[in-house]
Amino acid sequence: MKAAQQLMKVFVTRRLPPEGQKLLSQAENYTVQQWDSDDPVPRAELLKGVAGAHGLLCLLSEKIDQEVLDTAGPNLKVISTLSVGFDHLTINEIKKRGIRVGYTPDVLTEATAELSVALLLATCRRLPEAIQEVKSGGWKSWSPTWMCGYGLSNSTVGIIGLGRIVSCEKLTVDSDFVIVSCSLTPETEGLCNKDFFQRMKKSSVFINISRGSAVNQEDLYQALVSGQIAAAGLDVTTPEPLPTTHPLLSLKNCVILPHIGSATYSTRNTMSVLAVNNLLRGLAGQEMPSELQI
Ligand code: DGY
Repeated sequence: MKAAQQLMKVFVTRRLPPEGQKLLSQAENYTVQQWDSDDPVPRAELLKGVAGAHGLLCLLSEKIDQEVLDTAGPNLKVISTLSVGFDHLTINEIKKRGIRVGYTPDVLTEATAELSVALLLATCRRLPEAIQEVKSGGWKSWSPTWMCGYGLSNSTVGIIGLGRIVSCEKLTVDSDFVIVSCSLTPETEGLCNKDFFQRMKKSSVFINISRGSAVNQEDLYQALVSGQIAAAGLDVTTPEPLPTTHPLLSLKNCVILPHIGSATYSTRNTMSVLAVNNLLRGLAGQEMPSELQI
């Protein structure tokens, strides 16, 4: 065991799922400071915690910008994010400083795909609205056209993403269901705008599971209100959380989930183990299981 003053400092910005937490607690030769809560770390605590740290394990809810990097100072060698997305990291600055970045690709693909199907079905078969009708007494009788939605049989599904950006061609946008699952880049920011929605069919259902800023939410609102598209299901929004007064939440044909694509116990455990391993291996100067090439 090294003397306390020689130990590398690690700051972890949230309580982790149990398996990641266990692995972290077994880490030797590190002084681990953690925001040990299920609530987000306040910015002031983040800055305090990261000061002088060699390693930072963060979540997608923390903006790791120049101020955080400056506060951390030259010790900071590794940032490990508990996410596949890294739009919360100021990559240019991180690269300039030679900091290595770990992330969690692949391990959440299945859970996110499952959630996409669930959100697609919930949206096109109007499940939240139907459940609300049962609870509020709106269910008066079986009725031939009441609560009808759109079925998946014989439909076309256009997917924008799948690891590469499929360009916004008519074939994709003109499908019965359009699912956006691309990473957020300058090219995909605001990709789903007025023009995009105008090219969709009036009976189309739009799903976004990527990042909120891939969508121009004002344009989406107009498209939904005007009947330009039939419905939308969003697992991601701008901002997150979406204020409860947001206009999109007033629409029956818009289903919004609180960014739960990867939220299965086992996936989040796996992500947390990967994130801790990325951090510790990176700090040890070893190959990380999943290092972001920047
Ligand atoms: C990610 O990891 O980036 C997802 O959006 C949440 O799991």
